[in-house]
Amino acid sequence: MRLLLPEQRLLEGDDLLDLYDQPPGVRAGFVLTTDGGAAWDGGSRALQTPSDTHVFSALRTVADAVVVGAGTARSEGYGPVRHPPAGTAWRQAHGRLPAPLVLISRSLDLDPSDRAFTGDVRAVVVTCAAARPSAALGEVADVLVCGDDEVDLPTAVSALRDRGLPRLLCEGGPSLLTALLSAGLVDELCLTHVALLVGTAPTLLTEALPAPVRLDLRHLVDGGDGALLARYSVHR
Ligand SMILES: NC(=O)c1ccc[n+]([C@@H]2O[C@H](COP(=O)([O-])OP(=O)(O)OC[C@H]3O[C@@H](n4cnc5c(N)ncnc54)[C@H](OP(=O)(O)O)[C@@H]3O)[C@@H](O)[C@H]2O)c1
Repeated sequence: MRLLLPEQRLLEGDDLLDLYDQPPGVRAGFVLTTDGGAAWDGGSRALQTPSDTHVFSALRTVADAVVVGAGTARSEGYGPVRHPPAGTAWRQAHGRLPAPLVLISRSLDLDPSDRAFTGDVRAVVVTCAAARPSAALGEVADVLVCGDDEVDLPTAVSALRDRGLPRLLCEGGPSLLTALLSAGLVDELCLTHVALLVGTAPTLLTEALPAPVRLDLRHLVDGGDGALLARYSVHR
């Protein structure tokens, strides 16, 4: 893989992890096709290239927690957050504690026997007071109630920060990302642009934002497999 902007150089060893190291805040990571598609046949795996898989893993390595909407967890069969040995070594060297999976759900239509709840680190479920967590869910996950009838995302982000999770990586999906952007909570967007056409929904966002969100390009990487990997910060 090769860094193209802001300077040109080969990325070797831990370079990718250092390049993507995350400051406190909310970062979203997505893979998108040339025609803006975010899934094929209900999932994003068909979109991924080897370089996207590397960056996907790097984004997880540098984060304190991986946050997903329950829809993505259900459609992609999410499990606990795991790192390759090099990622675990980087995390230890940088004082990062094991990362929980955080599921955002209004309905709590979640199966406590799901593999998402089988990790060594307890998963966190963020919901609202209108949903009634079952005792079984409370046994396998820490349930945070943020908001009355809807999940209040600003409250959720500060509750996670108060739990010692300041660097949040949101892996989707489009509904959750739209809500986070609409609430002004996203600091960075890491997008893999794969040279592929799918002609199907969903795309990155599900509806118009309250106002256009300007992005500043922080870096651009040539994945060497047809993918371009961009890191943007959200302009404030
Ligand atoms: N290309 C990519 O990088 C990428 C990444 C992620 C997902 N995807 C694709 O996107 C599709 C899923 O899209 P999606 O929009 O349904 O995903 P999503 O945002 O993960 O899931 C929507 C569900 O998540 C919960 N949720 C999301 N936002 C919420 C909020 N603000 N408050 C409370 N709950 C919230 C709700 O769960 P409850 O129903 O439990 O209340 C909602 O029904 C799949 O095809 C997936 O493969 C692609």
